[in-house]
Amino acid sequence: MSWKRICSLGDLQQDGLRQFDVDGIPIVLARFDDEVRAIPPACPHMEEPLAQSGLCSGGMLTCTKHLWQWDLRTGEERGDAEKPLLMYDVKLEGDDVHVFVEHELEYEYEEEDDDDD
Ligand code: FES
Repeated sequence: MSWKRICSLGDLQQDGLRQFDVDGIPIVLARFDDEVRAIPPACPHMEEPLAQSGLCSGGMLTCTKHLWQWDLRTGEERGDAEKPLLMYDVKLEGDDVHVFVEHELEYEYEEEDDDDD
């Protein structure tokens, strides 16, 4: 895979999150000002779908489930977040939003094991 044109900048609302299917790989685009970030669709905490439960504001992303937060400029953790956001590379060519998709980015989730002690 390689660079893929996903949409136009105008297709993304300011402070909006929108999910796309890129050749079978789900990717969420987050727009703030005229910048766009591309992230996996699930929260790194407990797989909450961020296109529904995420809030994008002022360059910060918040998962409303347990309030983990990230700086969208860097993907770094803020507040209660304990894992950084994974991100795909994004480039804007004019009004076109392109994302570099080599393989699907996925988080490793710890398995809850109630019998473990
Ligand atoms: S599932 Fe997103 S913060 Fe817990």
